[in-house]
Amino acid sequence: MCGIVGAVAERNVVEILLEGLKRLEYRGYDSAGVALLQPNGTLTRLRKTGKVQALADAVAEHEALGSTGIAHTRWATHGGVTEYNAHPHCSNDRISVVHNGIIENYLALRAGLTEQGYTFDSDTDTETIAHTVHAELQKGGSLLKAVQNSVSQFHGAYGTVIMDSEDPSRVVVARSGSPLVIGLGLGENFIASDQMALLPVTRRFIFLEEGDVAEITRRSVSIFDVNGNPVEREVVESNIEHDAGDKAGYRHYMLKEIHEQPTVVRNTLQQRVDERGLVPGIFGAGAEAILAKVKHVQIIACGTSYHAGMTARYWLEQYANVSCNVEIASEFRYRKSVVYENSLLVTISQSGETADTLAALRLAKELGYMSSLAICNVPGSSLVRESDLSFMTRAGAEIGVASTKAFTTQLTAFLMLTLALGEHNGISEADSSGIVNALHSLPAKLEETLAITQGIEDLAEEFADKNHSLFLGRGDQYPIAMEGALKLKEISYIHAEAYASGELKHGPLALIDEEMPVIVVAPNNELLEKLKSNVEEVRARGGIMYVFADGDANFASDDTMRVINVPHCASPIAPIVYTLPLQLLSYYVALIKGTDVDQPRNLAKSVTVE
Ligand code: F6R
Repeated sequence: MCGIVGAVAERNVVEILLEGLKRLEYRGYDSAGVALLQPNGTLTRLRKTGKVQALADAVAEHEALGSTGIAHTRWATHGGVTEYNAHPHCSNDRISVVHNGIIENYLALRAGLTEQGYTFDSDTDTETIAHTVHAELQKGGSLLKAVQNSVSQFHGAYGTVIMDSEDPSRVVVARSGSPLVIGLGLGENFIASDQMALLPVTRRFIFLEEGDVAEITRRSVSIFDVNGNPVEREVVESNIEHDAGDKAGYRHYMLKEIHEQPTVVRNTLQQRVDERGLVPGIFGAGAEAILAKVKHVQIIACGTSYHAGMTARYWLEQYANVSCNVEIASEFRYRKSVVYENSLLVTISQSGETADTLAALRLAKELGYMSSLAICNVPGSSLVRESDLSFMTRAGAEIGVASTKAFTTQLTAFLMLTLALGEHNGISEADSSGIVNALHSLPAKLEETLAITQGIEDLAEEFADKNHSLFLGRGDQYPIAMEGALKLKEISYIHAEAYASGELKHGPLALIDEEMPVIVVAPNNELLEKLKSNVEEVRARGGIMYVFADGDANFASDDTMRVINVPHCASPIAPIVYTLPLQLLSYYVALIKGTDVDQPRNLAKSVTVE
């Protein structure tokens, strides 16, 4: 989704802005732009559709420079993908604006501004910000005051940075619903929608809170809360790897991130599960008292994170004896739902900024959930800050749009939550030690599983010319089949659907023919015999199957079935282990099809609009 970078410095900031935009490319975008101010107030604005490189070429050609600047990658919402809709938007060559989010009342604002004589050069909601601030400035007073007066007129979500050609010494920024982080330098300061953009220039960050407006100069940062009162916000030292944005020799970020899974899962477990079991207090201060009271869990998430929640429901009910519902955030937030007694709301999000998940959390607070826990990969994100409890997945920066290591670390976190809740709800000694032992074996199992890559590359060759596919799983492998189908759709654009395999004969069996490959996830568990019956149903109708199976499950390759053996693993971790071959399959199919693996079409990494 859209990305913002800004800087106020003494030096030329063009390269900082372009590098920042490049580091945000992973979020998905369709055009990019930059506005630069020289100390004498000269404004240069350049915008391009397509990649940031096109903008960088234009910057080089124009020898553009400026010591204060704002830059943006746009993911179109209002108005098509054109140069004139790309940010920054300007008002009267004086005010320049970049914006993430949606100004929902932009049509009404636009009508009022048109009446005042403003003309619009774009179809965007953002241009109303530029003209509104300009109109407020005309009334007298500072840029800060003009922005404070303007934001009270906006409905919707914004993370916005505003620059005034008549005062190149500062930018004013405002946050409501779309994240912004201030980066602190020495004699220079920065602003971005994501700390990743600023890691080459600083590691010291201030995360703005909802409703904050801030004025940033080279030497000062002044922050005001939603009521206009000056506030201090904590300065956080980031420990994200500076080179997390590098591919480390891999062809794509996605492949790098798939191969990082043994390491990041190990990191997720570190100092949380030891030889005695779950380490107390890992869900944060005050968590033990809350977890002891939980009788029900409501999980809310979107996309891949939702699949992690779906898997967790099997575990929480099977092992921890805690009832659990799971719902897609965009559904939950717009329907009336019943709150169970002593219910813990668990949100899951890689980014911690997904608009629907955040809105669902805010709604849940109003509904009276006992407490909230965020399972998240980004410390300091909105979801983490607004939840009572948080648990960091430690996957490290995930750049590929298709989520991989974030998912497996989320699952790892859920196994720990299962243990924690199980302790208060009668988990059996056998299940508890079984999960702990399985978790200890997990990083090595993932390493072993990544070694089957060659077989999957061969399989991808057979698969890449297909237009449709079905993924089948049972029990806690059903959500894994869903995740496998989502990965294939996202990056190879092959239509893929997932079914709980017991559902086959209730409809989807009609689709089976040799053009509809069927992918089956088949660990050796108590549902194996049932799954085998489903496999026979497909075979009897001439279907072609690709089965990822435990060696002990006794599947054999033949004319209608290709079997890929997955290393034997304990049941609780099987959903995590079987995820990897499905990720690899999608990756190699996409590679053969030549799609943009890391930035698939139409998708954004962090979905900050609903
Ligand atoms: C799919 C994918 C998305 C995200 C979803 C939620 O590969 O990445 O489906 O899982 O947009 O994002 P987060 O987890 O950041 O809330």
